[in-house]
Amino acid sequence: MEQIREEPKTESHSLKGFVPLLGFTEGCGALLVILVTVWTYSYRDGFSWKSNPQLEFNWHPLLMIVGLVFLYANAMLIYRTQRNVRKRGLKLIHAGIMLFIVLLTVIALVAVFDSHNLASPAPIPNMYSLHSWVGLTTVILFCCQWVAGCVSFLFPGLQSPLRASYMPMHVYFGVAAFVGAIASCLLGLNEKAFFVLQDKYAAFVSEGMLINFIGLLLILFGGLSVYLVTQERYRRLPRPEDEVLLPGWHG
Ligand code: HEM
Repeated sequence: MEQIREEPKTESHSLKGFVPLLGFTEGCGALLVILVTVWTYSYRDGFSWKSNPQLEFNWHPLLMIVGLVFLYANAMLIYRTQRNVRKRGLKLIHAGIMLFIVLLTVIALVAVFDSHNLASPAPIPNMYSLHSWVGLTTVILFCCQWVAGCVSFLFPGLQSPLRASYMPMHVYFGVAAFVGAIASCLLGLNEKAFFVLQDKYAAFVSEGMLINFIGLLLILFGGLSVYLVTQERYRRLPRPEDEVLLPGWHG
């Protein structure tokens, strides 16, 4: 992608602290994904598909955390992390990563519904828990947000004043769905810990401690990501090139 010149810096728009904080956040995110993989692979016996519904379930936490947490945070942050890439390219990458997250989410949902419907000796009821209600609401919000974003900013794109008035809502609901995803994961992790460990949870077994640590990392990664994406001083400033050289593609 073509590089364009550095943004001007003002006092209210200072990138001080951005790079170290971003590095720390990404480190937490990478550790989160590694630990969920270790947990599902080593403690929960790895992965399968319909032939073994119990192991099919393990795709659910892994893909939800990779997609709706790690990739989602990075897709939200892309305008701030890739400051020298043209806006048109960033919008396509932003929407493209979000579409990939929808795909991972669908697979994660199929895995968990299968693990209930194909369970033996009897199927497990669906959508009874608080986790499942908060989770499905988050997924619906995320999908609506994706469609509204595409219609407003990409195809066909709203007129400038309408786009500008929709933007704060896009940001608010984008962050809200991300917080919903973190909350869903915490509820799901806690529920799974009680299901599989039962009395052993209170005996401080290593799997229980690992699950608790994954939960804390989720809060840390989520909190830092929301901080980075909502700080006015880290915002990408509009560039003349974005408007002038690309008629039809706007902020
Ligand atoms: C944003 C992330 C997540 C979303 C949107 C989500 C969504 C859902 C939904 C809609 C169900 C209902 C499936 C059914 O009723 O058949 C479900 C079930 C379940 N999920 Fe998640 N989930 C997420 C993350 C997680 C994580 C990280 C775990 C950790 C293990 C987890 C554990 C479970 C468990 C144990 C069930 C079965 C019991 C129940 O229905 O509550 N989920 N999830």
